Amino acid sequence: MSKIDVLLGLQWGDEGKGKIVDVLTPKYDIIARFQGGPNAGHTLEFDGIKHVLHIIPSGIFHKEKSNLIGNGVLIEPVIFKQEIESLKSKGIDAVTNLLISNKANLILPTHRLTDAANETYKGSSKIGSTLKGIGPAYTDKVARIAMRVGDILNDNYKQVYDKLKASHIRHITSLGFNLNSFQIDGISFEEYEQLWLKSLDFLKKFRIIDSEYWLNDALNSGKKVLAEGAQGAMLDIDFGSYPFVTSSSTITAGVCTGLGVAPSRIGNVFGICKAYCTRVGSGPFPTELFDENGSLLREKGKEYGSTTGRPRRCGWIDLPALKYSCMLNGVTHLVIMKTDVLNDFSQINVCDKYEINKNITDKFPFNISTEDIKPLYSSYQGWKQDIKGINEYSKLPSAMKQYITALEEKMGIKVAVISTSPDRKDTIYKENI
Ligand code: GDP
Ligand code: IMO
Ligand code: MG
Repeated sequence: MSKIDVLLGLQWGDEGKGKIVDVLTPKYDIIARFQGGPNAGHTLEFDGIKHVLHIIPSGIFHKEKSNLIGNGVLIEPVIFKQEIESLKSKGIDAVTNLLISNKANLILPTHRLTDAANETYKGSSKIGSTLKGIGPAYTDKVARIAMRVGDILNDNYKQVYDKLKASHIRHITSLGFNLNSFQIDGISFEEYEQLWLKSLDFLKKFRIIDSEYWLNDALNSGKKVLAEGAQGAMLDIDFGSYPFVTSSSTITAGVCTGLGVAPSRIGNVFGICKAYCTRVGSGPFPTELFDENGSLLREKGKEYGSTTGRPRRCGWIDLPALKYSCMLNGVTHLVIMKTDVLNDFSQINVCDKYEINKNITDKFPFNISTEDIKPLYSSYQGWKQDIKGINEYSKLPSAMKQYITALEEKMGIKVAVISTSPDRKDTIYKENI
């Protein structure tokens, strides 16, 4: 009987989850996504080629492994089809080793319009959503009116679709918009709807299963499973920087509801963070840098969104937020990404605590979105050296090892893996995992 390991982001997303899932996949039999949807953009690089995945788990490049889209995930059929076709053009046949939960919820074209309408209506207080329909689709799930993947196998699916679409139109109209107020990915609603309906036939070609039984049977027979998170703990619906969050449980607890595994089944939890911090979209970001250091992080780290292309906001690593994430997730192993991006810095700052209304705290505050937070930093010497090609921890520059050790001590968790480039092979194992 195996446990299920978990890999998830500890910050505001884009920590480098895709790369590390791909790196760890050889150790597992099954890779399973448990939440989120096409708002995610997970990048993998090997053999000089970059791949970006949105809905499909990052184990897909390993032919002999199974990949599961769990019940907690949202599927947008047009984006799903495009993703599968893009993989096919690169010689990857995802039809045979991809399984889909019949309880995964669907994103409708009108969910995408609703997302755009809600955001436009909010004006300057908008979330900065990826406009993939995530919030509206999860809203329908909780409202118990959603359309699930299994529903498309029933004859009456078009009636279910039309009913849901009508409810969305009522909402959009109430905000002063209509079906033609927004385009979806550059085309009209009518055109997109036709594509969407056709894509359902494509989706039906996949193995649509009771994935909670399938996965528990796999664990019972000793199969090794890795759950792949999307977004990050600071975007979690309950514990993130509310209301500037996504609409799912991005933390370890979400693995249980998003895949149907019991809490006692959770094994190792790999928590991923950058050696600094980024955020895309609106919302609080206490350590954000508006100076040349921020620009240097963006330029060196190529910090532009994998899904939307938007420039990411950049800042120093934030330990109150990270310690909060580790507590919520039960992180057993830390994975530090993008250390190479700090190569050119002579000084690296670490936020240890926040000062809020003259009080000093290392706790993530309730009013994170409205408080005036001053980050309190300690400084570390930079290594000012190119670290590419180094593949043993002991050979890393001593200033870099001091930085890593400081993070371990301050967070009370061992760093297991260090990443030094986007490529699969530039990954250093500090601990045996
Ligand atoms: P994810 O959403 O967590 O999978 O992360 P993204 O793919 O959205 O963003 C991470 C970006 O950083 C991608 O462009 C990766 O190719 C890149 N990346 C990952 N690890 C490293 C690293 O160690 N160094 C550098 N320079 N880039 C990295
Ligand atoms: P990965 O999996 C970074 C952000 C959006 C927005 C907020 C809500 O690649 O790390 P949504 O579309 O979910 O309603 O947007 O969350 N966001 C992400 N930021 N990485 C992601 O995914 C994100 N998914 C959503 O920018 O601020
Ligand atoms: Mg991403």
